[in-house]
Amino acid sequence: MSRIVLGVGGGVAAYKSALLLRAFTEAGHDVRVVPTASALRFVGAATFEALSGNPVSTEVWDDVPAVAHVRIGQTADLVVVCPATADLLARAAAGRADDLLTATLLTAHCPVVFVPAMHTEMWLHPATQDNVVTLRRRGAVVLPPAVGRLTGPDSGPGRLPEPVDVAALAAVVLSDGAAALAPDLTGRRIVISAGGTREPLDPVRYLGNRSSGRQGWALARVAVARGAEVVLVGANVEDPAPFGARVVRVGTAEELRVAVHAETVGAGGRAADVVVMAAAVADFRPASVAGTKLKKGSAAEPSAVALVRNPDVLAELVTARPAGQLVVGFAAETGDAEGDVLTHARAKLARKRVDLLVVNDVSAGQVFGTDDNEVTVLAADGSVTPVRAGRKDAVAAGVWDVVVPRLAALD
Ligand code: CTP
Repeated sequence: MSRIVLGVGGGVAAYKSALLLRAFTEAGHDVRVVPTASALRFVGAATFEALSGNPVSTEVWDDVPAVAHVRIGQTADLVVVCPATADLLARAAAGRADDLLTATLLTAHCPVVFVPAMHTEMWLHPATQDNVVTLRRRGAVVLPPAVGRLTGPDSGPGRLPEPVDVAALAAVVLSDGAAALAPDLTGRRIVISAGGTREPLDPVRYLGNRSSGRQGWALARVAVARGAEVVLVGANVEDPAPFGARVVRVGTAEELRVAVHAETVGAGGRAADVVVMAAAVADFRPASVAGTKLKKGSAAEPSAVALVRNPDVLAELVTARPAGQLVVGFAAETGDAEGDVLTHARAKLARKRVDLLVVNDVSAGQVFGTDDNEVTVLAADGSVTPVRAGRKDAVAAGVWDVVVPRLAALD
C-alpha cells in the first residue's frame, strides 16, 4: 500500500478524477484528495471524502495544528495532479503556495505526475508550454494530453486521458520513479503490433493463440506517455485504444502484415523510427477456408486440416528496414532438451537479424492474459538486459529504456 496524494484542478475533467481515485483505492492505496477551491465547483468534497475515506480540504487554514500543508506532501509516495489545469501548471511552475495543493507540491519529496486537461489553445500557448518544460526540468512527469473531444463540440489536444490509463501510468511511476516516464521518445514514430492473429477455417471457426495484447497495449501507452506518436496494429484485441495511440484493428496474419507494412512506411512517407512486433502471428493458416460451416457427417467433414506457412512479417521488416530504423522482435520461449530459454532466444535473435529481441519465458504459461510479465531484452550487440518483473506497463518502461539509447545512437 502506498500513500498517494490526488490533486484535483478546477476543470470540467475533474469528474474523471473520482474514477481515478476509485482505481487507486481498489489497488489498495491510501489516497488523500487535495482539490483546489475551483475543483469543488465541479465535484463535491463529499464525493472525494466518501471514495477516499479521508477528509478533504483546499486551504492551508483547515486543521492548522496538523500542519497539513507540510505533512501531506512530506509523507506522500506519489502525487498525481489530475486534471492539471493551465492555471495549476502555472502556479506549480512559479512555485506558489497559495492553497493546500500548491503548498503540498512544494513539500513533496516523492515523484509528481501532472495530467493536463484544458482547451487546445491554452495547452498550445507558449506560456503553458514553458511551464511544462520547467516542471519537466525539475523532474516532474507531465503527461501529454490526449487528442479528442473537448468540453464543447470541438476537439484537439487537451483532453484528459482515461482514468484507467492514468492509473496504469501512475503505477509505473510508483514502482520505478519519474524517470520511467521521461519524455525521451518525443518526436519518434513508433509502430507496435499486438494481440494474436486468427486464421479462419470456416465462417465460424479459426486457429488462434492465447495472446491478450496487453503487453503491446502497455508498450503503446508508455511510449505515448514518453512523447512518441504511436500506431498500434491490434489483432483481435477488444480493449479500447490505449491513451494517445491510434489503433488499426486486424484479424488474420495477412491483414496484420498489410497494416504493419503500411504504417511502418508511413502515409506521408516518413518511416517509423521503431517497429515492435509484439503480436503473436500465426506461423500457419489453413490451406483452404470453407465458404460455409463445416458440418459433422457432411461430405465436406474434414479428417485433417492442411496448413500452409504464413509470411514472416518480422523477417520482411528486417529486409526492408530503412537506415535509422530499429526493429524489435518478441519471442515466447520454453526451455527444452535442446537448450534453455536464453539459448533458444539467442539463436532466434541471430536468425531473425533484429536489433532487439524481447524474450518471454512462457514455460509455465503464466504470462497470457495476466497483468504481470517478466522479460529479458537481448540485443544484436550481445548485451542481455533483464527487465524487473512487474506490471506490464512497468515492463514496457523497461523495454523502452533499452530502446532509447540505441535509437539515439542511430541518429
Ligand atoms: N512473427 C512474424 N511473422 C510470423 C511469425 C512471427 O512477424 N509469421 C514475429 C512475432 O511477432 C515475433 C517474432 O516473429 O516478434 C517471433 O515469433 P516466433 O513465432 O517466436 O518466431 P518463429 O520464427 O516462428 O520461431 P519458432 O521457430 O520458435 O516458431
